[in-house]
Amino acid sequence: MTNKILILPGDGIGHEVMKEVNKVISWFNESKSLNAEIEFDNVGGTSYDLNGSAISEEAMKLAKDSDAVLFGAVGGPKWDNVEYENRPEAGLLRLRKDLDLFANLRPAICFPALVDASALKREIIEGLDIVIVRELTGGIYFGEPRGIEDLGSGNRRGINTQVYETWEIRRIAEVAFELAKKRNNKVTSSEKRNVMESGLLWNEEVTKIHKEKYSDVDLDHMLADNCGMQLVRWPKQFDVIVTDNLFGDMLSDVAAMLTGSLGMLPSASLGKSNNGIFRNALYEPVHGSAPDIEGQGIANPLASILSFAMALRYSFSKEEDADILEKAISNVLDAGLRTKDIATKGSKVISTVEMGDAVISSLNDLS
Ligand code: IPM
Ligand code: MG
Repeated sequence: MTNKILILPGDGIGHEVMKEVNKVISWFNESKSLNAEIEFDNVGGTSYDLNGSAISEEAMKLAKDSDAVLFGAVGGPKWDNVEYENRPEAGLLRLRKDLDLFANLRPAICFPALVDASALKREIIEGLDIVIVRELTGGIYFGEPRGIEDLGSGNRRGINTQVYETWEIRRIAEVAFELAKKRNNKVTSSEKRNVMESGLLWNEEVTKIHKEKYSDVDLDHMLADNCGMQLVRWPKQFDVIVTDNLFGDMLSDVAAMLTGSLGMLPSASLGKSNNGIFRNALYEPVHGSAPDIEGQGIANPLASILSFAMALRYSFSKEEDADILEKAISNVLDAGLRTKDIATKGSKVISTVEMGDAVISSLNDLS
């Protein structure tokens, strides 16, 4: 059986980090019989320049036919003036929506070697291991009506709609509860029920499904603003946080900094599972295209490589291989090798390519 992988490097540092992921996949093909068949295509501004849209129909078809899509990053100042429906981000949003990838898992784990790379104190982040479960195909990102209306006399109105239905809340809550059962058995649900009816519904539906099916899991509710504050005050109080599309976007950037750098956070976007295997899933680093450091060879490829580890786990059922890859990365960090974003006193600063090579040689040492 072959495992079909589509690599969409996208824009900016997406190209640089995905080259390193490609090396890692080749290693698993050669050393662990992964049997992965890789295709490449474009997304984001790069696709816009070539096709006039942020993702082509061919690329969408390839994505639908893949077991896993590995996504780099999209966007950059070059496309600031592109019409809104063709902006680079539209390619990513279409992939999420058309593949029905409603569950976005964003683990924030602080590697022991990186404790000093975080802006927070050691005792706050040492041993941190939490997951944000972000709803990814609903809410204000996709709600209608939306747009900018001209009201005349120089006055305009911008509209977006936050909307959730029961079934959307229930299915994402189930993902969070199931995940918590395999971890520390605690879910924190986050919304703004104090100002939004959609937040009130979220709160009520999560409470209901908890009572019906998951009363053995601890459930807490926390307003999203407080959740942002608690994440930097005492993040170890959390296990699994479940929240909507927009709050999940923001809270996961906050969580990223707990781990030392945005360059360390992977993510998996999953749809329905077939006996625990997610086909058609998408894996991407939480960081963006970072146009300010593009082409300098200093980008951190670890978030993308860790995202591939999540693909091994969720799309290919290769738990052991995922563990080996995560261990290899941990060993590289323990050896003091760092890209610039996670450098600490006494560590050796290496380039994007050197970091990819270091992971490969660490994999060789482990097998
Ligand atoms: C993310 C990103 C995207 C989002 C952008 C690039 C559309 O910030 O995956 O967190 O807002 O979802
Ligand atoms: Mg984001």
